[in-house]
This record gives sequence, structure tokens and C-alpha cells, in this order.
Amino acid sequence: MTRRPLEIAPSILAANFAVLGEEVRAVEAAGAAVIHVDVMDGHFVPNISIGVPIVASLSKATRLPLDVHLMIERPGDFVEAFAKAGAHRILVHQEATVHLDRVIALIHEQNCEAGVALNPATPVAMLKEVLDRVETVLVMTVNPGFGGQKFIPQTVDKIRELRDIRSRYDYGFRIGVDGGVTLENTAELVTAGVDTLVAGTSIFHTKDPGAAVRQMKQYASDAISQRV
Ligand code: DX5
Ligand code: ZN
Repeated sequence: MTRRPLEIAPSILAANFAVLGEEVRAVEAAGAAVIHVDVMDGHFVPNISIGVPIVASLSKATRLPLDVHLMIERPGDFVEAFAKAGAHRILVHQEATVHLDRVIALIHEQNCEAGVALNPATPVAMLKEVLDRVETVLVMTVNPGFGGQKFIPQTVDKIRELRDIRSRYDYGFRIGVDGGVTLENTAELVTAGVDTLVAGTSIFHTKDPGAAVRQMKQYASDAISQRV
């Protein structure tokens, strides 16, 4: 089985926005693979966060790819703006996207990677017709909207299901998880098949975010080496 290199994707939602550039540089130096940016509109999720200008500033402050997670209604309307601001990957929610196929094509037209996120209550089967043409499936392991929530353990089955489908059909998507990811559940998630660990609180709400990234990478690579 081809194994994609494991990625740690710090979610800046938990960072100190007053010194965002420094926060991002610290996790970049520690070996983070990608910066995860949570965009919330107060409609699709009950919270408001950040938007296009922050992505534009970040793209100048880091060499890492930017993962833009759109927790917004009508995400297709904003694909071009985020791509122009410097997003490398754009992730939309299946639940927020009526014309998912069209939005995936739009993201690709902007030369970005396309990802689809699934809420905890949404089955993997909802993605059956698009799994051959997305670069990431993001399994939400909390209900989206807030950082610092508790991991929902039932979501691990979806990771295994996606991994099985991927190997059966030889698809190329990465499997990501987002929400409540900590050092404690890193090994279980990686063993289940995760390629990208998105983590906010467990990285930025520590004394040393760089050390937290290094430790999570270590836990993940230990779990990979123990896999049969
Ligand atoms: C949740 C966001 C997450 C969030 C994760 O709605 O999509 O990316 O920042 O935060 P933690 O790691 O604190 O659960
Ligand atoms: Zn997210």
C-alpha cells in the first residue's frame, strides 16, 4: 500500500492572532507540513472566524502550503477569492455544497487541491461519486465551529472505511482528521489510516507550540512503524 507522508497541520484558530506570524514560523520550523486556516461564517457553523485578508497575509509569512477549511454556506462563491489570496488546498463541506462536483472543478480550475469535509453525522457514502477526484477527505472528529472540543470516538470507523475504499479502488486522496486531536489519540488515528492530523488547541495552547508539533510527529511515526 502506498503511504502518503504523514502531515501535521496546525490549526491557527487556536493561535494568538496578535502575533500570528511568529506562531506560524514556530510550527514551520518544527516541521509542520501545512497551515490549517478555519473560515467560519456564522451560518453554516455557529461562529465567525477569519477570511480572505488573513490568508493573503499568511501566504507572505510562510512557505508552507495553506489549507483553507471553508465552514461557510455557498463555498463555491469564495473559491476564487481564497485561491487568489494564496490558498493551496481548499476544503468545502459536503453538507454546505449543493453542487459538489461543480465546486470541486472550480477549485481545480484555480490550480488548488480540492478537499471535502464530512461532519460527524454524515456518512462516507455521501462522497461515493467524487472520491476519484478529490485530493483530501477531511473527517470531522468534532462538530465544526469551535476549537477545543472533545474528540468524538465513533468517527474513527469512517477513517477505516475511507482507507478500505481507497485501497480497493486505488484512489489517491489523503485522509485528514480535524477536531480534538491530541497526543493521546494520535497513535489510534494514524493506525486507523490518517495522513493529515489537524490540531489547534493541543499545539497552540501549550507553552511551546514547536515542541508540541515535534512530539506529535514522533508519536505518529512511532505508530506508523508499529503498524502491520
Ligand atoms: C473546528 C475546526 C478545527 C479546529 C480544531 O471547527 O475546523 O480546525 O481549529 O481545533 P482543536 O484542535 O482545538 O479541536
Ligand atoms: Zn478545520
